[in-house]
Amino acid sequence: MALDNVVVAGGGTLGSQIAYQSAFKGKHVVLYDINEQALANAKKNVDKLDDRYREDMDATDDQIQATHERIKFTDDLDEALKGADIVVEAIPEDLSIKSDFYKKLAGHLDDDTILVSNTSTLLPSQIVEFTDRPDKFLALHFANEIWKRNLAELMPVTTTDKAVVQKVNDFAKEIGMKPIMLTKEQPGYVLNSLIDPWENAALRLWGRDVAEPADIDKDWMVAFGTNMGPFALMDMVGLELVHEIHSRQVAPGDVDLLHGLNKMQKLIDAGKVGQKSGQGFYSYPNPEFLNF
Ligand SMILES: NC(=O)c1ccc[n+]([C@@H]2O[C@H](COP(=O)([O-])OP(=O)(O)OC[C@H]3O[C@@H](n4cnc5c(N)ncnc54)[C@H](O)[C@@H]3O)[C@@H](O)[C@H]2O)c1
Repeated sequence: MALDNVVVAGGGTLGSQIAYQSAFKGKHVVLYDINEQALANAKKNVDKLDDRYREDMDATDDQIQATHERIKFTDDLDEALKGADIVVEAIPEDLSIKSDFYKKLAGHLDDDTILVSNTSTLLPSQIVEFTDRPDKFLALHFANEIWKRNLAELMPVTTTDKAVVQKVNDFAKEIGMKPIMLTKEQPGYVLNSLIDPWENAALRLWGRDVAEPADIDKDWMVAFGTNMGPFALMDMVGLELVHEIHSRQVAPGDVDLLHGLNKMQKLIDAGKVGQKSGQGFYSYPNPEFLNF
């Protein structure tokens, strides 16, 4: 049976997108958040997506109206969970917040309800012990702007039932995602395991003053026919977060990466934290990597 009744926990950046995308594709969605203020924010986040779907997905007014009609908002956990086929957890990336949430769920769920976490940096094996259903829990990781970057990485734990993994794989397809299956746990899933060394290589080149970000990006873009390179991507994610993640990856003696990160820190100190601030490695809205 298809997973048609979806609860999304957390209506922030990703939760609002998961709720919208699921409803857009015909699922019945309940968006649960902690209190009225958080729900008001969640509603705003959801409403903001209308224009994006109009622009990027050619969504019609009827489709948008139907999407909204399929999303209910509540801060009442019991009401949210009634009849849920799947709970997609998109609450803050903090193990103590997540563990409290999963402990709270236990005893309120139907027997068959599947739980998935959208965690980016935690492993599902760190979370599973707080659930009451080790056979019905896995990570389902979406990328920001899920309607466009429609990748969904599935990462089960050793106790996850294979039939449950298959159901979640089908669910991901039904909501317009391209599911990618991991057969064992990997920090950063597949995508970030590929991206991190690539960004580090770019930062080393810049750290050694071999080339400027725009030339490094253009090199990659021309060779692979892509619309962005590593520095453009880092600007998109936001330099504070990128700096924090990559600082943890500096091995002893990796001075080129250290130099690259120090140069990035100077941008951050000057308030140039990427696309969201209008400046980072590039100035927006017309970044240099697009001009050649
Ligand atoms: N932002 C991204 O680009 C991105 C991408 C992929 C995955 N993720 C992951 O998705 C999850 C959420 O990230 P985000 O960026 O959407 O966070 P966010 O801070 O934008 O939103 C978190 C939401 O959770 C709500 N919340 C807090 N405690 C809660 C609780 N106990 N129960 C229900 N709701 C609660 C908050 O009110 C808020 O609406 C994290 O695990 C993150 O790693 C984020």
